[in-house]
Amino acid sequence: MQLIDGKLKAAEILEQVKAGVEGQVKADGARPGLTVVLVGEDPASQVYVRNKEKRAEEAGFNGQLIRLPSTTSESDLLAVIDKLNTDKSVHGILVQLPLPEQINEQAVIGAIAPEKDVDGFHEVNGGRLLNGDSRAMVPCTPLGCLHLIETVIPDLKGMHAVIIGRSNIVGKPLSMLLLQKSCTVTITHSKTRDLPNVCAGADILIAAVGVPELVKADWVKPGAVVIDVGINRVARDGKQVLVGDVDFDAVRDIASAITPVPGGVGPMTIACLLSNTLAASR
Ligand code: GUN
Repeated sequence: MQLIDGKLKAAEILEQVKAGVEGQVKADGARPGLTVVLVGEDPASQVYVRNKEKRAEEAGFNGQLIRLPSTTSESDLLAVIDKLNTDKSVHGILVQLPLPEQINEQAVIGAIAPEKDVDGFHEVNGGRLLNGDSRAMVPCTPLGCLHLIETVIPDLKGMHAVIIGRSNIVGKPLSMLLLQKSCTVTITHSKTRDLPNVCAGADILIAAVGVPELVKADWVKPGAVVIDVGINRVARDGKQVLVGDVDFDAVRDIASAITPVPGGVGPMTIACLLSNTLAASR
């Protein structure tokens, strides 16, 4: 079994991005800028946002974090986004999700200028991805998954990919990326009948549902490539630990290659975010 090292691949991408940023600065004197907007005090979001800022600055971006109170109204947030849309020093805008319940997420995402939507969540970018339009800003986690899959299977033509999870952030966009690579794609979800058997037909199995250690040994075809997008906090022997959506110890000797949690897909998400931001600034 080969362990797919997301930290290593992410570091490679970040080196390229860093070089690209320096090239950009030399060419036109302006440093690419990424603004992250965080509304409220969700502890997990705080950690994610801090990591994004840190990596952005390491790669040479102008990083800016705007913190707003959890009581922020939708119209106040929309006003902030409006300003960022017209600010020429801001090339990427990321509004950390989830948002407090008084704010309509779709309205906020739809207000971001599509060319600054480095998350790739805007409907224009979703439509472009669906159409195979190269101007699409592609969501970072699915893009990271694709890069990792390609480290072990350079030619994906004809492969059967099974995705567990149909989210707008991972499952749906990843299905489009794999389809573009001429995979046969099956998207499964909580209502799928006989899920283990469907998964057992996969050459490439991607788990993105947020159910701790859902995928067991008999869900995996011998030699399959397994990508685990899950990051679940669970209590184990009185301690909090992170586990994926795949029962790693059960599956590791059946798969030909597998991503660990942590250190698999997670680091790739930020690397792809910064790669999108560099592209947005060009
Ligand atoms: N919350 C959890 N993951 C993400 C992400 O990729 N982007 C944003 N904006 N919020 C998130």
